[in-house]
Amino acid sequence: MTAVILDGKQVAAEIRADLAKEVADFVAGGAPPPCLTAVLVGEDPASQVYVRNKARACEKAGIDGRTHRLPADAGQDELMALIAELNTDTNVNGILVQLPLPTGSGVDYDEREILDAIDPLKDVDAFSPVNVGLLMQGRPRFLPCTPHGIVQLLGRSNLSVAGKKVCVVGRSDIVGKPMAMMLAQKNGSCGPDVANATVTIAHSRTENLAEVCREADCLIAAVGRPEMITGDMIKPGAIVIDVGINRVGDKLVGDVAFDQAKEIAAAITPVPGGVGPLTIAMLLHNTLAAAKLQSG
Ligand code: GUN
Repeated sequence: MTAVILDGKQVAAEIRADLAKEVADFVAGGAPPPCLTAVLVGEDPASQVYVRNKARACEKAGIDGRTHRLPADAGQDELMALIAELNTDTNVNGILVQLPLPTGSGVDYDEREILDAIDPLKDVDAFSPVNVGLLMQGRPRFLPCTPHGIVQLLGRSNLSVAGKKVCVVGRSDIVGKPMAMMLAQKNGSCGPDVANATVTIAHSRTENLAEVCREADCLIAAVGRPEMITGDMIKPGAIVIDVGINRVGDKLVGDVAFDQAKEIAAAITPVPGGVGPLTIAMLLHNTLAAAKLQSG
């Protein structure tokens, strides 16, 4: 079997085109363009690329994308003061603090305190405890961008996981945990056809990981370890979603050994060009949603 390649770039382009129209309608109704402000602390090269890509995507969608840059050693108080300022600035609809925060600059950042300080109505990453809680209860205000992108990719590729076994490998707050919760929802609150999956969360301490993965009709890898999901861990005919973006030498590889997996799976996301582009598309979606919430 050779898997269908799920083209995240294409799906993200569709979502962004729809979104640009929605933004134009919103602005035509008399509202200012939605404004997303990213905060970049330090000069991590990968973070700089992400933030630049976000700014570019905003511009194409008609969103006012701003970036605040702070030096790596700015310190907790300066960052907290900036968040407080952005919270009260009525021109700013969405706030995103680019992670990870720098280490090794002589300043230790308390990431939890910083994320908790973002006004939940401007929390377009959906990282705040309030927004995580609302998602847990099946009444999300914002959906976290990467899991939401995966849901969109599945839905727009006519792949339903309702009633199916899904294994999420990885238990991060950004991807693994919310992904599992969204797919297990009862009421479809997280998008069409994505509720009612039977979800397993696997991780580095899971016994017999290969066996657990091999049971899954849909395997979602979000561990950040290059090509750790090998062909023998995949059920023939499964859907394989690869969230990993790992730099190995001068190449980007996912968490899945793609060449092996594509011979076994029915459908698979490539790296790059799979899940990655969808994350930014859903961030733009949340920024418009935030602007609408704040205008109403
Ligand atoms: N760093 C890597 N992914 C993300 C993300 O989705 N949001 C933020 N704020 N930082 C990130």
